[in-house]
Amino acid sequence: MTAVSPVVNGQQQARSEAYCADRAHVFHSWSAQASLDPVVVAGGAGSWFWDEDGRRYLDFSSQLVNLNLGHQHPVIVAAIAEQAATLCTIAPIFAEAKRSRAAELIASHSPAGLDRVFFTNGGADANEHAVRMARLTTGRPKVLSMYRSYHGGTATAMALTGDPRRWANDNGAGGVVHFFGPYAYRSAFHADSEAQEGERALQHLTDVLTLEGPQTIAAIILEPVVGTNGILVPPPGYLAGVRELCNRYGVVLIADEVMSGFGRCGEWFAMDHWKVVPDLITFAKGVNSGYVPLGGVIMSDAIADAFATRPYPGGLTYSGHVLGCAAAVASMQAFEDEGILPYVRRVGEEVVRPGLEAIAAAHPSVGEVRGLGLFWAIELVRNPQTREPLVPFNATGADAAPMNELAAAAKSQGLFPFTHFNRMHVVPPLNTSEDDLRHGLAIIDHVLALADRHVPEQAR
Ligand SMILES: Cc1ncc(COP(=O)(O)O)c(C=O)c1O
Repeated sequence: MTAVSPVVNGQQQARSEAYCADRAHVFHSWSAQASLDPVVVAGGAGSWFWDEDGRRYLDFSSQLVNLNLGHQHPVIVAAIAEQAATLCTIAPIFAEAKRSRAAELIASHSPAGLDRVFFTNGGADANEHAVRMARLTTGRPKVLSMYRSYHGGTATAMALTGDPRRWANDNGAGGVVHFFGPYAYRSAFHADSEAQEGERALQHLTDVLTLEGPQTIAAIILEPVVGTNGILVPPPGYLAGVRELCNRYGVVLIADEVMSGFGRCGEWFAMDHWKVVPDLITFAKGVNSGYVPLGGVIMSDAIADAFATRPYPGGLTYSGHVLGCAAAVASMQAFEDEGILPYVRRVGEEVVRPGLEAIAAAHPSVGEVRGLGLFWAIELVRNPQTREPLVPFNATGADAAPMNELAAAAKSQGLFPFTHFNRMHVVPPLNTSEDDLRHGLAIIDHVLALADRHVPEQAR
């Protein structure tokens, strides 16, 4: 069905009712509304989705890196339908079978000693509550968080965030102090090896703690593998060093596993990769592939016990929504039945890593490829020697054109990419077939010729 749309980008076109109603009534996140021209999605299956004209896209961004088992996984869809037929919703005060089972399964996949789950609606509110728990149990006001991080769009989560999305939301009163994490390719510490980067980043964090006054710090929150801000895999020993600092100063360690958890890094939680145990883990997204909003905080026994006789001052109407919990139970079962974790580890190392290394060797615009599991970044540069980024930090408008062109070219080839600043991320659903992984990488290889044009001859 078509209708005449309002003028979009200076052009009046016949567009569907869905498109017109969207442009007239839907206010989209993080966007200047007049600049939007959204694809109208008609359906999806597995790692693919399609628009209302039947144009198909291979999803190398897992939507917002949450669609870990792809679209319309039959086991999760059936579990939601069954739960809907039984009981659509029930207040948080009650116990309910799927909520209990979801918490039990999540605890079983968490490190020993993290046994209780406070459910939220998503990742931002999970971080809000984790920080609240840390402040209440330590009696301390401040939180340390990394630059180059994202922790969510609500007040405290925004204050924690270490990227430009915070700027317009920051009133400076969040009680958050930011520090630099390890990022060897663009070292803040003039390090010339991964090992040196890890050591110097830890020394920097020690200095920040010392100068802020450790007795004023309730928590350190970090993404164990930084997600949107670059898929930054920490050097060996870094996370263990942060754990040690937290132990030394009685600081709560919060692992924000909203993006890195539930198989993205080939483990239930990215922290498992380094066998480091935080005090609180926040999760959302991949817990149930986002079929129904669900997030939460997995709590150490010590923190949970602090609220055994003293009430926890916080809650949400939809805490532990039973449709979301039913989807989570089914998803975790599907992970086991389909061997998702070993599959992610294998294709990450045998398909994606070599594929991206070949792409890096073939394209002068690729400064570095890095990642693990199905969590990878291609960092694009104008000059591989100086490492000048392909587009400036936080570029918009004409400055961002080289990345926008790249994304548009990928879409025109049927690949839906994840781009951020001067990077393209490879973050497909975890059950994407080997053939589809290779197909997507081949499209990236093809379109990177566009980025190469910005690299001068003498820098190649
Ligand atoms: C690491 C991390 N934490 C928190 C969030 C916020 O999650 P939500 O959008 O579900 O509130 C995100 C979202 O992208 C994230 O990547």
